[in-house]
Amino acid sequence: MKKCCNAGDFILKYEDLYKHKLLEKILDYCKDGINVVNSDGILVYSNKISADYANSNRSDMIGKHIAAFYPQAAVLKVLKNKNALLDKKIHYVGKKKYVISSYPIYIDNEFQGAFSVFQDIQEIEELNNRIKSLELHLTLSRPEDNISSVIGNTGSLQNVLVRAKRTVGSLAGPRHSIIIGESGTGKTMLANLIYKYAIDVGVLDKKAPFIEINCGQFTNPDIAAVEIFGSEEGAYTGSKQKKGLFEQANGGILFLDEAHALEKYQTLLLKAIESGRIRRIGCSRDIAVDVIIIAASTKNLKEEMLPELYQRLAQYELYIPSLMERSFEEKRSLFNHFVDKYIRAVENLHGINFNLSFNKDAEEAILSANYPRNIRQLRDVINYSIDASTPLISDIKGKDTIYVIVDKEHLPFEPDDQSVTTKAKHEKKINLDKRAEIIIKDYHNLGYGPRRIAQKMLNEGYEIEYYRIAYYLRKLKSQF
Ligand SMILES: Nc1ncnc2c1ncn2[C@@H]1O[C@H](COP(=O)(O)OP(=O)(O)O)[C@@H](O)[C@H]1O
Ligand SMILES: [Mg+2]
Repeated sequence: MKKCCNAGDFILKYEDLYKHKLLEKILDYCKDGINVVNSDGILVYSNKISADYANSNRSDMIGKHIAAFYPQAAVLKVLKNKNALLDKKIHYVGKKKYVISSYPIYIDNEFQGAFSVFQDIQEIEELNNRIKSLELHLTLSRPEDNISSVIGNTGSLQNVLVRAKRTVGSLAGPRHSIIIGESGTGKTMLANLIYKYAIDVGVLDKKAPFIEINCGQFTNPDIAAVEIFGSEEGAYTGSKQKKGLFEQANGGILFLDEAHALEKYQTLLLKAIESGRIRRIGCSRDIAVDVIIIAASTKNLKEEMLPELYQRLAQYELYIPSLMERSFEEKRSLFNHFVDKYIRAVENLHGINFNLSFNKDAEEAILSANYPRNIRQLRDVINYSIDASTPLISDIKGKDTIYVIVDKEHLPFEPDDQSVTTKAKHEKKINLDKRAEIIIKDYHNLGYGPRRIAQKMLNEGYEIEYYRIAYYLRKLKSQF
């Protein structure tokens, strides 16, 4: 039988790319746009991407001047200067933005034209902007990491910071501790400060872990327990061998937020603290661990925890006052602190001068509002108001200074809102319990501790948490 053709007879060669117009097809698949012009700026070639960008088609473009399709074409500069242009950004009106490189074409040492290769960077720019704004918000919500930048370090937090240092820095060795405070008062911040301090004084290794878990975030305590203590394969249906956070925190700090939510697993925690060993759920072998525990809660852990566990952890009980319990001046310092933080973050991120000020009314409204979620909420209100008053990233291109004034209309609440109190009301609320203060002082003079005073206060018609009483008494002491 006669073969008509044999696939093996044909071998693709470089010349075939021209002959079969393959080069053009290949260039159409490339993600960059390509234009080639002669020395008069007339297009001699455009790939499909370039034609698509120009909302045209290739046959209409070739033979015409490039400026008809790309008014600011980089090749025009190359035609003029005969030098290559690299990675030049071009902003067109509308949504189009390109990054372009353009090169001169020489044939036999004669200048014959230029070509450019360019990419639409609109999506990359948008992504970049989004990353920048995420970065900004991450910076703004990052907790303070050194004691000197903590507002109140010479005021409402002075005592608590001294005691916090003592938890890890005392000569007898580091101790476990408890941090109590309403949501947003700075518990996580304080735990981080203790960790940093422990590293600074050499109690912990520089690379010691700080492991944080919110025990209240799980739908049930079984899941929290597996996270914390780990599990053995087959301990429960489908379970795998898993290292728990306790093991991961070895040599460092385990920060158990909302620790009371551990419920029945508190006994495991107690055992771990007493013996320095933990056992993964479903495992019969103990593992030695060396971990400092900081347990935090918005609740009174004495009532929520097993008494023995509480006793072990509460060698230091640190109470952080709510925003309401702090002075108006401290609130103003917090305000200035968060505004400065925002300004610095914007300046660092965008390399511009950020000239930001608050209209007096807006500032007063923020300072006199009531914040049930404390410092975090104050911070969020300030950040929100600045966000609402500043231009978009895309509008600050090319500027080296931006001027912004935050007005009442930028605030996330109506200044006349129920949640807003005046400065006078703020102070009244702090001093609300004048009679209570007198009774507390009386009991204190009788030698009663905060817990007993709290019980006695119930008979007087006051339901006051013992730690508030402890805080009040400490504050009183520091005044003399
Ligand atoms: N005294 C303070 N000075 C400066 N910033 C603070 C202070 N207290 C809290 N913050 C900030 O307030 C926010 C909330 O604090 P956080 O520690 O998360 O509260 P909690 O853990 O009690 O809910 C964080 O951004 C923190 O850095
Ligand atoms: Mg927290």
